[in-house]
Amino acid sequence: MKIDILTLFPNMFSGAFDESIIKRAIEDKKVEINLHNFRDYSLDSHNKVDDTPYGGGAGMVLTCQPIFDCVKELKTEDSKVILLTPSGKVYNQKTAYDLSNEKHLIIICGHYEGFDERITSICDLELSIGDYVLTGGEIPAMVLVDSITRLIPGVINERSHLEDSFNENYLLDYPTYTKPRVYEGMEVPEVLISGDHKKIDEWRYNESLKRTKDRRPDLLDKR
Ligand code: ADE
Repeated sequence: MKIDILTLFPNMFSGAFDESIIKRAIEDKKVEINLHNFRDYSLDSHNKVDDTPYGGGAGMVLTCQPIFDCVKELKTEDSKVILLTPSGKVYNQKTAYDLSNEKHLIIICGHYEGFDERITSICDLELSIGDYVLTGGEIPAMVLVDSITRLIPGVINERSHLEDSFNENYLLDYPTYTKPRVYEGMEVPEVLISGDHKKIDEWRYNESLKRTKDRRPDLLDKR
């Protein structure tokens, strides 16, 4: 998969893609990630990318021209163009799965007070990572790239993501434990040491259900 990210702050991404699983996925050519500073596409003599809003109001608004030109240069028949905005559809694991099957993603990071609405005309999807407002789309872009890349076949053991929270079964993950058996007086549940895999599966399922009822009852309505 190829992912092109349009941002005014490419330096924010250093670190996020240079470690651990994403770094390995890039090295193994499972994913190619390119950063594009759309300021470089501005035709303004001062490389301006924003302007004041029509109708008045606070802050600056991203203009169409640099983003349109940058997308035009990158877009092919296989591209899906995503705009990150707090007004988008709320991102979830199902969308991550769907997007992990795409060949090419173009992700546009908004910044400042917002963007000219006409930019949505060149986008296939507007996404928000949750009901809170960040200073820009850079952190949401990292969230998308991380959650999508781990689902690309061969990036991590497939069993790991089949057992993830938020899969089709809409249950949170069950609790897990590792060595030692007792830590500061807290013991690992006996059943996990029993070797009885039927019992272990039952216990895990019940714990998932309990946890979901307690923390995310909204998920149970989706089951
Ligand atoms: N830009 C600012 N806040 C955002 C959010 N919650 N999701 C996506 N993009 C954003």
